[in-house]
Amino acid sequence: MDNTTAKKVMLSGIQPSGDLHLGNYLGAVKNWADLADEFDCYYFMADLHTLTVRQNPAELRRRSTQQLAQYIACGLDPEKNTLFIQSHVHEHAELGWILNCYTMFGELSRMTQFKDKSAKNAENVNGGLFTYPSLMAADILLYQADFVPVGEDQKQHCELTRDIATRFNNIYGETFKVPEPYIPKVGARIMSLGAPNNKMSKSDPQGCVFLLDKPEDIARKFKRAVTDSDTEHCVRYAPQEKPGVANLMSIYSSVTGKSFDEIEREFDGKGYGVFKPAVGEAVIEHLRPIREEAERIIADKAYLSSVYTEGARKAQYIARKTLRKVYKKVGLVEKPF
Ligand code: TYM
Repeated sequence: MDNTTAKKVMLSGIQPSGDLHLGNYLGAVKNWADLADEFDCYYFMADLHTLTVRQNPAELRRRSTQQLAQYIACGLDPEKNTLFIQSHVHEHAELGWILNCYTMFGELSRMTQFKDKSAKNAENVNGGLFTYPSLMAADILLYQADFVPVGEDQKQHCELTRDIATRFNNIYGETFKVPEPYIPKVGARIMSLGAPNNKMSKSDPQGCVFLLDKPEDIARKFKRAVTDSDTEHCVRYAPQEKPGVANLMSIYSSVTGKSFDEIEREFDGKGYGVFKPAVGEAVIEHLRPIREEAERIIADKAYLSSVYTEGARKAQYIARKTLRKVYKKVGLVEKPF
């Protein structure tokens, strides 16, 4: 396998800083499974990125392998996709350092994720949090990715990656493929069930549905979902006016494939008391086979280890080639062994 293959390259990652949630799934993983035949696909656990915020070491290790099990349960066949743990391919950290030297302080200062996370972790605004986007650029550029399938919130990082790649290419000649974000039409920004103006995130467990949540917990979270004060309880897609309802409609649409028009017709005159549990039920049924399969795979540690070992081997083969090219271009002496 090499990167001269005719297939275009898809690459994405998720931080194992929490368990996978519905936002990660609908914004990213759900869309990855169908790409394997058409593209050369790389998906990884972005464990190095999680260190920008303090982690419990045992929990981080558990979540990294459980995340892999959930990738597979969501339909990512390890025979068709390269699945690996970021820290197993040391070229990520090495290219990350080089790209730091081609990323401007001003660019990093403008990143929304940095501003949000530094406000939330005021006692630990470390260098890694600031230079996070250069490591993400390295993740992507090492594999000469054409497309990066992510949710809306990662668009800014993908655009910075394009700028870094273009800057490097302009100095040293064609080295990196300039990638494009690949963002789904529905589900790219799933909001918290409890506070529909905030993005769904693990830091708000009541507004967040985890892929491995029990059905009764999912049902409860949807029943309590915040809607609005419309006395008619009208199920209508109007994101500005009715963000809670629009969010529930996006979730329902993503898991059932129904259009917003169809959903409005289905719940016409029925009210939120019928709509909210129906969305919960649809999510429960959609996630049930994923949870059952993930639980089965999580128990098979030897299998998981064989998948990430083989994945790291395949990923490193490609990553090493790009890194060697970069070292040569910037003027580092070739390693003699
Ligand atoms: P992370 O780990 O925060 O999120 C992983 C993926 O889930 C998407 N996502 C959402 N989509 C819709 N609604 C939401 N509420 C929601 N929350 C999260 C994210 O857009 C993302 O696609 N920096 C990345 C991880 C990363 C990466 C990479 C991604 C590291 N290196 C290289 C792509 C390529 C991050 O923090 O995503």
